[in-house]
Amino acid sequence: MTAVRHDGGFDSALLRRALGRFATGVALVTTTDADGGPIGLTVSSFNALSLEPPLVLWSLRRASPSLGVFAAARHFAVNVLGETQVELSRRFASSVPDKFAAGVWNQGLGGVPVLAGCAAVFECEREAAHEGGDHVVFVGRVLRLAEQALAPLLFQGGHYRTLGEVL
Ligand SMILES: Cc1cc2nc3c(=O)[nH]c(=O)nc-3n(C[C@H](O)[C@H](O)[C@H](O)COP(=O)(O)O)c2cc1C
Repeated sequence: MTAVRHDGGFDSALLRRALGRFATGVALVTTTDADGGPIGLTVSSFNALSLEPPLVLWSLRRASPSLGVFAAARHFAVNVLGETQVELSRRFASSVPDKFAAGVWNQGLGGVPVLAGCAAVFECEREAAHEGGDHVVFVGRVLRLAEQALAPLLFQGGHYRTLGEVL
């Protein structure tokens, strides 16, 4: 198959399709608002940034109703989903008012909700927030982590996927 090249003449639908060729994991990023209420959403923009110091990043679209809360929050948690947690991913990518009614949640650092049964959890203190076009990039310093050998949930080409073997 031949790759099609687009020199600048691309719209955001094509950009989104090309970016979707890049497979990612799926995480729920969570925090608490000023009243201590839980806030969270599904993200695929989570990534490693630095080992020393231990930094991670993710990005939030500026139009999100959660932007003000994440901009003000001192802590957030990145809950990396396993392949059995796809329903939680769908729930946290929706606008249902009671996102946290599903799943088993514990209190992490700063009272931030931490999901049980994840492949990994990174509890972070917000280190920086950078402008990134129509998104804001949040950088977190990892203060505490947990991980277990669970098969990850993946996202690619607009679809949820699970790991296959390399042939
Ligand atoms: C697989 C997947 C990955 C997503 N990644 C992001 C992301 O990285 N950043 C973002 O702002 N929204 C992302 N979204 C969209 C949000 O999850 C969705 O807009 C959600 O409703 C946001 O919650 P809010 O309305 O409370 O802000 C993603 C959705 C899906 C299904």
